[in-house]
Amino acid sequence: MPFETALTQALDLRVPVVAGPLGRGSSAEFLGAMANSGCFGFTAAAHMPEETLRDELAKMSRATNGRFGANLSLTRDRRKWLATALEAGVRVFSVWQGDIEPYVRIIKDAGGLVFWTLGSPDEAARAKGLGVDFIVSQGQEAGGHYVGSAPTMSLLPSIVDAAKGVPVVAAGGIADGRGLVAAMALGACGVWMGTRFVASKESANHRGYKERVVAARATDLVETELFDPVGQECPHRVIRNSTFSKWEEAGRPATGQRPGERDRISSFPNGKPLYRYDAAAAWDAMEGDWEASPLYAGTTIELIREVKPVAEIVREIETTAQAALNKIADLRTVR
Ligand SMILES: Cc1cc2nc3c(=O)[nH]c(=O)nc-3n(C[C@H](O)[C@H](O)[C@H](O)COP(=O)(O)O)c2cc1C
Repeated sequence: MPFETALTQALDLRVPVVAGPLGRGSSAEFLGAMANSGCFGFTAAAHMPEETLRDELAKMSRATNGRFGANLSLTRDRRKWLATALEAGVRVFSVWQGDIEPYVRIIKDAGGLVFWTLGSPDEAARAKGLGVDFIVSQGQEAGGHYVGSAPTMSLLPSIVDAAKGVPVVAAGGIADGRGLVAAMALGACGVWMGTRFVASKESANHRGYKERVVAARATDLVETELFDPVGQECPHRVIRNSTFSKWEEAGRPATGQRPGERDRISSFPNGKPLYRYDAAAAWDAMEGDWEASPLYAGTTIELIREVKPVAEIVREIETTAQAALNKIADLRTVR
């Protein structure tokens, strides 16, 4: 892979590919597979109960030899989560959805690296002054919650232009090496992928959810704010499921009047109830009605036809990137 970039240098990667946090899917096994493939993954630390966070991070650290990062969704106060992660030795963080400034300061004081997921050139222009190390430009095609003000093709170059030299990683709509080459042509130093890795063998997302990602087409996707946010409204892209369809059939009623609002569809591993409309994505050991939970996925489902091991996905990214580069070189040849 001929790409050596600010991203590969900072994280010591063989391939400029990062897996974004995948809810409960970013398990120790998944992150280990990413690290072993010369890439990097983030865990969704804010999705873990604070009581178990330290043990979970220790497991991830063992599986990756310390080569993973922690994502903090700042929809509420996460300073305790940050302190625990720093104590556990984590030094690479990703933040979004909130006031990042105090978090960046603490992470930088501890000698860490900060990735900031954002969706507009105005935010990108603030990143350098805040001390952010990497911007993650998240296009509107992204699976899960998205903050992008436009799709990647136009958002990414506008963010690169506004970033004042802060390196930019491209997220949203990328699933293979062609997407990687395209993102780099638009000025990115690497890619940050979500939906493709949901449908990986090692991710701890529910098997049925992975199969839906493989089977669905872009026409099965909906953009909605239906699944309850934790503290802040944010649109998300999901595959249409029974919860969405019933709500639609009921005339899209407001929160408080949605059908089955108090249905307990499952329980979290600590025994807490999981209700219909909760934001948690289906995880591997989830019992009950996994299909009723949000099936987060982006437009790359058009490119994902099989659940594959992480190593194979990464190998394919490398070969398809090389093929795309060869094709571009061929275009230059006068015939
Ligand atoms: C199941 C799932 C859960 C996600 N959870 C988070 C999260 O907790 N924090 C976050 O920053 N991004 C989250 N994302 C977004 C990803 O980090 C990433 O920006 C997005 O998936 C990229 O677009 P793509 O799906 O087209 O690859 C999630 C995405 C998916 C598919």
